[in-house]
Amino acid sequence: MAKPKLAYSCTACGASHNKWAGQCGDCGAWNTLIESVASTKETSARFTGYAGQSRIQNMADISLTEAPRHATGIGELDRVLGGGLVHGSVILIGGDPGIGKSTLLTQTLATLGGQMKALYVTGEESLQQVTLRVRRLGLRDDSFRLLTETCVERILALAEQEKPKVMVIDSIQTVYTELLQSAPGAVAQVREAAAQLVRFAKQTGTALFLVGHVTKEGTLAGPRVLEHMVDTVLYFEGDAGERYRMIRAVKNRFGAVNELGLFAMTETGLKTVSNPSAIFLSRHDEPVPGSIITVTREGNRPLLIEVQALVDDSHTSNPRRVTLGLDQNRLSLLLAVLHRHGGIAMYDQDVFINIVGGVRVTETAADVAMLLACLSSFRSKPLPQKMIAFGEIGLAGEIRPVPNGQERLKEAAKHGFTHAVIPRDNLPKKQDMPTDMEVIAVKRVSELLDIH
Ligand code: TYD
Ligand code: MG
Repeated sequence: MAKPKLAYSCTACGASHNKWAGQCGDCGAWNTLIESVASTKETSARFTGYAGQSRIQNMADISLTEAPRHATGIGELDRVLGGGLVHGSVILIGGDPGIGKSTLLTQTLATLGGQMKALYVTGEESLQQVTLRVRRLGLRDDSFRLLTETCVERILALAEQEKPKVMVIDSIQTVYTELLQSAPGAVAQVREAAAQLVRFAKQTGTALFLVGHVTKEGTLAGPRVLEHMVDTVLYFEGDAGERYRMIRAVKNRFGAVNELGLFAMTETGLKTVSNPSAIFLSRHDEPVPGSIITVTREGNRPLLIEVQALVDDSHTSNPRRVTLGLDQNRLSLLLAVLHRHGGIAMYDQDVFINIVGGVRVTETAADVAMLLACLSSFRSKPLPQKMIAFGEIGLAGEIRPVPNGQERLKEAAKHGFTHAVIPRDNLPKKQDMPTDMEVIAVKRVSELLDIH
């Protein structure tokens, strides 16, 4: 095959040029030209559509003969995938180095490999390293086959012969296409290689896992288009140094997003944590200021987590607002509300917030807990140890109800909590009120000041 012609297209305006230049001649933007394959008759035939022949059909005529989902055998992974692996779907898994992407996929292939043909393509490790890991994890070493290759054309040629039902590419940043001249990992390379792999998956019905590296900012390296091309995007969360790892679905064409899967990293690989609700609680011997438990609901189940705050005199003119696991702007907003509607000023204080265990909370139901923790640390007065709090705070100083309030309350009661601060609109009916629990219903931020 003759080498296809290269073109340089502008990421800002989409114009195509024959030569690279620092500035796009069309729109005048700087540094926006990236290498791409010039569209000719031959290439556009290769690069259109996933589905083979194009024809308009009735939905009623489309048969779903094959079982559309296949359980991976790893419960928490099935949960984030929305109930199992869909044939022909493409799943992108991102995460920090050393968080356990390769470990998880090795374990997944080992369990899936017993039921279907599986292929692990690695561009990062040698065959010996992968085999060593499989043996160390105590998995069967005949459950899936291995390939070290980074050229996407050769990967696809070999995969066409092998005909796997599930395939892993570890990682997409090491894969390159011969069509382009830029180095592996470059935006154009990642996009082009991924496009070819996605097309293969759709045409052959192969389930495909792509491992993606993340940048320092925590987003997937390479183009954003990668997230648009695939069906499901999963992110690993948690500290590489900690025991617990979480996988969050940030996009899923076949299930709910923001579903959270929980794992513990052990000497024998990742183990699922099936009852995770209390794993993130650090148990203090006696009450300490600045700590409170909240009940969040990430995905489909409640999770008890500890919010810690440290408020300390600031020695700079620009006091620090630092959050780990929560939105920093949210903290600034809450402190402003506390000042305006509660009369407590912290403009000369550094405020640090941390969620224990490296969990990231994306919902606003942690607002009340965050403010209570700040107040407790500011006044050096501990809150009762068996107290939980949840609720959203609005700019007018009101405390708004959160979804599934009753379920959260129940979960806290189940774990022996005896005090709960909740929005008044979340107050359950008398017959649903948990016994042995003192429920404090609040409506305004000013009412939080009296809680201790
Ligand atoms: P790895 O899965 O290679 O991470 P990634 O592919 O995301 O870069 O490695 C995960 C880390 O977990 C590594 O630092 C070693 C550790 N680990 C264990 O603690 N137990 C195990 O059984 C395995 C295989 C790895
Ligand atoms: Mg790896």
